[in-house]
Amino acid sequence: MLYIGIDLGTSSVKIILVDEKGEKLATVTRHYPVEYPKPGWSQQNPEDWYDAVISGLEELLDGQDKSKIAGLGVAGQMHGLVILDNEDHVIRPAILWNDGRTEDQVAYLNNQIGKDTLSGHVANIAFAGFTAPKILWLKEHEPENFTKIHKIMLPKDYIVYRLTGSFVTDYSDASGMLLLDVQNRCWSDKLCEICYVKKEWLPQLCDSKDRVGVIKKEFDYLFGGNEICVVAGAGDNAAAAIGTGCINDGECNISLGTSGTIFIVSDNFDVDNNNALHSFAYTEGRYHLMGCMLSAASCASWWLDILNSIDYDGEFTDMNSMLGDNQVYFLPYLMGERSPINDVNARAAFVGMNAATTRREMCLAVLEGVSFALRDCLEVARKLGINVNVSTCCGGGSKIKIWPQILSNVLGIDINLPATQEGPSLGAAMLAMVACGEYESVSEACDAIVKIQETINPQMDIIEKYNKKYEKFSKLYPALKDVF
Ligand code: XUL
Repeated sequence: MLYIGIDLGTSSVKIILVDEKGEKLATVTRHYPVEYPKPGWSQQNPEDWYDAVISGLEELLDGQDKSKIAGLGVAGQMHGLVILDNEDHVIRPAILWNDGRTEDQVAYLNNQIGKDTLSGHVANIAFAGFTAPKILWLKEHEPENFTKIHKIMLPKDYIVYRLTGSFVTDYSDASGMLLLDVQNRCWSDKLCEICYVKKEWLPQLCDSKDRVGVIKKEFDYLFGGNEICVVAGAGDNAAAAIGTGCINDGECNISLGTSGTIFIVSDNFDVDNNNALHSFAYTEGRYHLMGCMLSAASCASWWLDILNSIDYDGEFTDMNSMLGDNQVYFLPYLMGERSPINDVNARAAFVGMNAATTRREMCLAVLEGVSFALRDCLEVARKLGINVNVSTCCGGGSKIKIWPQILSNVLGIDINLPATQEGPSLGAAMLAMVACGEYESVSEACDAIVKIQETINPQMDIIEKYNKKYEKFSKLYPALKDVF
């Protein structure tokens, strides 16, 4: 049978068609714009997502044997606030995960309500990109929109809603709203009260692999008229973890997408005392700790835009002999930063150039800077006693050949590159396979489907140089904080 996985990303939607063994038959990518109405704000029109999904599916399924399609799963960018009125119209553009407009609401939640209260009820403190502070922002700044709210949903849930009519979400994505009692997997009365949210506005909670409906009849022209099972799906990072086979306690996936994340699976619920890492739910009763930096592969694309270049392979090539010796540093905070510094006002910077500095050194500094910032997250996990020696890696950035090697050197761990790098979309399709009975469980699907193609080991002679560079990197943000 055939399965469709949709990854509703920030710059584009990626859709994959696979068979039950995870063999890829077709992929499609459709881009859509992000609006930046003010510095640090970012929003998108959910109708653009929907149009991209539908036209992407049209292309994906053209010429395929539609009678074999059994299931569909959606993964998506997390935390985005999508609000619908009582006629199911989208009230305003969705406020995205990397939007920093809620500084005041975050301060109110963390300082007045208090981090301990938040952490006690929803296992996390407030970060600007999370959904609940955006609801408070809306109430204060757009009261006319707030009063129209009838449904609140996350980006991928909007697509599921349009395709099936089911108003649902899954635990991994719901965790990032700051409205979920993560440990007990139910909406938190306390946080709903604090954020003026009526429970009936919120979607029904499900496990990622739960069947939540079938594709509506109106899409028969697309799918050929057979009944297609749709699962609840997952936030993009949870789906990426599934698509890279990270399902057992302690397993780790690093995603180099627009954002950069370190996702560590845990069988047990746990909270980092400083709440620098997110404590979120995962599929089949598991949990995960996650560090999220807001600009990862997007730093590379931003820098190439500045260079007026689209030549990823050319710009980031021939760097092997430079590893460990670059004197240029880059702070990757183009959109402020989430983990671990939680500062919407942090900004990017190049530091350490001299008159002989080359374009290539600056390119390398960008990849290194993102890797150092990911190490900041990993160090928090290490301080909690979590020992990560190996991680899978996926996302657009993992396709820049030198980057996994840099990451391996900077983090001092092995990096496994899966044969199929479409982490979130493959993960979403795998969830549909489990719902359709191809596999007993998500772990069984991971074992059967995910293959590691290459392992990158740290280069022992270079690791020490990177440790020293990391020490210097760590001094830059505290030194520049007041400038930002
Ligand atoms: C995770 C996060 C990002 C988005 C991007 O907390 O905000 O990884 O999900 O897609």
